[in-house]
Amino acid sequence: IETELGAGPLRGKRVLVTSGPTHEPIDPVRYIANRSSGAQGTAVARAFAALGAEVVFVTGPADVAPPEGVQVTRVETAQQMSDAVDAALPVDAAVFAAAVADWRVVGASDKKLKKSRDGMPALEFAENPDILKRVSHLKTGRPPLVVGFAAETDDVIEHATAKRDRKGCDWIVANDVSPATGIMGGSENAVILISDEGAEEWPRMGKDAVAERLARKIADALISKQE
Ligand code: CTP
Ligand code: CA
Repeated sequence: IETELGAGPLRGKRVLVTSGPTHEPIDPVRYIANRSSGAQGTAVARAFAALGAEVVFVTGPADVAPPEGVQVTRVETAQQMSDAVDAALPVDAAVFAAAVADWRVVGASDKKLKKSRDGMPALEFAENPDILKRVSHLKTGRPPLVVGFAAETDDVIEHATAKRDRKGCDWIVANDVSPATGIMGGSENAVILISDEGAEEWPRMGKDAVAERLARKIADALISKQE
């Protein structure tokens, strides 16, 4: 493995990957979250490591274990993820694969809410920091290549292209997660890569294969930026 890493095209490059869901507490035993196993983000981090990169892996509470050979920072909330991302910079490339909760609960209770005593809680929400958008717009220290993910259920290319513009990132890895595709929670993914060159549709393949292809493409882009 040593020689493999040594020969990797991403040797000397530092990359960041966010992965998994975030959990936004309601009280110590309850939370709101997006569905996310963390499988795709974990596969991306593993693929980067296999290409020789120094990988900072910031993960929410995922179902799958982090890969070997990466620096792991475990977080729970979006705010913590945002702070961990800041601490990881500067990097040569950043891939935001986390399914960040868009909202957090205002005034989360530090004691367990009781059905009998408290009745039904009226939850108030506040918007979480948009980590991808913020990093994409950094005036100083913006990673040279910023890649976001977009899970959509309809008009995938249209929504993902608009999302790329809105976020200010370089690439968006879009996927159709409508129930009919069976992608959500599965081991395969069918993605469309949106860049300034348009939309590139990849065939349906395992999440590991998607990750390897993405990591290769990022390596190629970093190398050609260098030249
Ligand atoms: N993202 C992030 N921080 C957030 C929300 C999203 O970094 N608070 C990142 C995700 O990791 C992903 C990309 O932004 O790479 C797109 O996430 P998505 O939820 O699809 O975008 P939103 O702008 O939240 O749009 P939507 O209303 O479709 O949820
Ligand atoms: Ca969202």
